[in-house]
Amino acid sequence: MRRLTRLLLLATAAVAARRIAAQGRFPPDSFTNLKVLPKNIDQRTLIATMRGFALALGVRCTYCHVGREGAPLDSLSFAKDDKRTKKVARVMMHMVMHINDEHLHDVPDRPKPLLEVRCATCHRGVVRPRLLDDDMTLTLADSGLDAAVRRYRDLRQRYLESGAYDFREGVLIEVARSEARAGRVDNALGLLNLDAEFHPVSAPIPAALGDVYLQKGDSANAIASYRTALSRDSTFGPARMRLRQLTRWGGGQSPP
Ligand code: HEC
Ligand code: HEC
Repeated sequence: MRRLTRLLLLATAAVAARRIAAQGRFPPDSFTNLKVLPKNIDQRTLIATMRGFALALGVRCTYCHVGREGAPLDSLSFAKDDKRTKKVARVMMHMVMHINDEHLHDVPDRPKPLLEVRCATCHRGVVRPRLLDDDMTLTLADSGLDAAVRRYRDLRQRYLESGAYDFREGVLIEVARSEARAGRVDNALGLLNLDAEFHPVSAPIPAALGDVYLQKGDSANAIASYRTALSRDSTFGPARMRLRQLTRWGGGQSPP
């Protein structure tokens, strides 16, 4: 029973499912290949669970089920296990049940109402729930700066609203700093300039730019960047300190 309760929690879109069911041609009268869900699950709950999967991953039914995208649902072969993604989904269902039933069950003094893991907890509308910093690092390594910049713009356009990725300024700053530490200064500058485009009044971004210019030995641009940071946030300690070290004037004031 507890298992079933958990699985019901996976379902989020019961209303839409009822609409599909009301059309009569779908779903099938019986399910023939259930290995994780209870074999006697009612149609409405199964379809709601499936809608929940699709929403959580940002996909259509045909991402896991054999059939043509956009074809009528009664033409899909739902029972077939041909697609890798359907098999992965079963592993994920087991994983979610383990997390909720075993691991979270052992959390001391668990606050109520219980906070449980669902597909969307990790996926948030994407099939491969990779964090933005990891995604950027991977794209830089595989395909270089231009590709990473394109990828960032694309992800931002597609996912800004859903919150699937963290587009706050700090993420690209950290990736840029780690690129700079690895000696890939141009990657670092490229990422920070990209970040600046979307965060035009940020102080930490020009401060980080200053550090990278300094590493490059370009003290004129470093000074200019630290000044920009301080003009945006006069209390920004790291930039103020560096500027003091670099100039006689320091303190964010312009030289006479
Ligand atoms: C992320 C993958 C995934 C998506 C997306 C998905 N399903 Fe499924 N579906 C599964 C898995 C896995 C099973 C088998 C569950 C089990 O073994 O208990 C299944 C089983 C089914 C079954 C039962 C088949 C049978 O007879 O055994 C139906 C019907 C079904 N899905 C319909 C849908 C519909 C409709 C959609 C779109 C709204 C959908 N599914 C989206 C993974 C998915
Ligand atoms: C704890 C986080 C987490 C939860 C919860 C989770 N997933 Fe995943 N999912 C992942 C990760 C990480 C991967 C990538 C695994 C890999 O490729 O090694 C993944 C991959 C997948 C893939 C394959 C994507 C691809 O194209 O390679 C499918 C399908 C999937 N998950 C479905 C689900 C479904 C359905 C649920 C809910 C029953 C779910 N996941 C819950 C973390 C999660």
